[in-house]
Amino acid sequence: MKDIKVLAIESSCDETAASVVLNGREVLSNIVNTQMELHKKFGGVVPEVASRLHMETINLVVKEALEKSNSSFDDIDAIAVTYGPGLVGALLVGLSTAKALAFALNKPLVGVNHIEGHICANYISNKELKPPFICLVVSGGHTHLVEVKDYNKYDILGRTRDDASGEAFDKIARALGLGYPGGPLIDKMAKLGDENKIDFPKALIDDDSYDFSFSGLKSAVLNYLNAKKMKKEEIVVEDVCASFQKAVVDVLSQKAIKACKDKNYDTLVLAGGVAANSKLRNQLLNISKKNNIKLSYPNINLCTDNAAMIGSCGYYNFINNKISDQGLNAVPNLKIGQE
Ligand code: KG4
Ligand code: ZN
Repeated sequence: MKDIKVLAIESSCDETAASVVLNGREVLSNIVNTQMELHKKFGGVVPEVASRLHMETINLVVKEALEKSNSSFDDIDAIAVTYGPGLVGALLVGLSTAKALAFALNKPLVGVNHIEGHICANYISNKELKPPFICLVVSGGHTHLVEVKDYNKYDILGRTRDDASGEAFDKIARALGLGYPGGPLIDKMAKLGDENKIDFPKALIDDDSYDFSFSGLKSAVLNYLNAKKMKKEEIVVEDVCASFQKAVVDVLSQKAIKACKDKNYDTLVLAGGVAANSKLRNQLLNISKKNNIKLSYPNINLCTDNAAMIGSCGYYNFINNKISDQGLNAVPNLKIGQE
């Protein structure tokens, strides 16, 4: 088959990103311009600020992605772009850029679902990985257990009923005054703490469904912190981080392994920003080994938002004839597997 080069654009949240990906698996360039430092001041992403910054940098980021990959527009076979889920104003910047390029260059436009992109990051990091498999998608906005039946066929087995796992990390980090984004900071602090010090709730852990719930855990941590403050007792931040992280990771791992066993899958895949968590990776490596399950996760730089994962997903959409037209619009609450 002829080589296929995809130029991919991602702007769904606070990273402006562009990448050139060869045949869905080989990253020729991966430019990520993060807005994190600016949003840090507000303790989270400010949508209006995000859109504005995307506008300022998108053209430069695309140009750099082409240059780094030694490609010109002529070499590109298709333009892939995230069209949801995400912040509508932010999505529109990447989408308008991709539509303008596809129109001006007369190249196919391929819309990509951001969450499916997170899953496809694994095809880049693990060249042998092929569907079917079970995927635990854990990001700032989503927590899903997904049965990936084929490159374009996804069935959701379970999802969070309230907060996403990454959101829980971010909210607890904020309450502890650690900063934003919370996940990496809690991960680091937790290494210095005792994870068995505080017994935080693990909602739905023995429930038969594949659903998750993290809002009760969040309240329990906040109540614990308030009670300590009222009694003027010392808060050992490291222990709170370790105990909170254990509660999240225990639930995520138990449910993911249960899904593999119930559905008879021998491959488990992690995706999304929280897949960078060291305890989640290590704990699942151990449990998977014991259960003869192969575990895949993306390289750290491909766990959080980037355009290479969109290029990989865009490639599989493209070769399966899932091509969009100029009518493609941003869908802020796009569901996984949704056409
Ligand atoms: O996938 P992502 O970049 O954005 C969304 O699509 O939502 O995920 C960002 C989330 C944030 O909530 C961040 O705190 C979390 O991933 N995260 C982590 C770690 N690194 C990033 N959570 C736990 N441990 C980490 N090491
Ligand atoms: Zn994401």
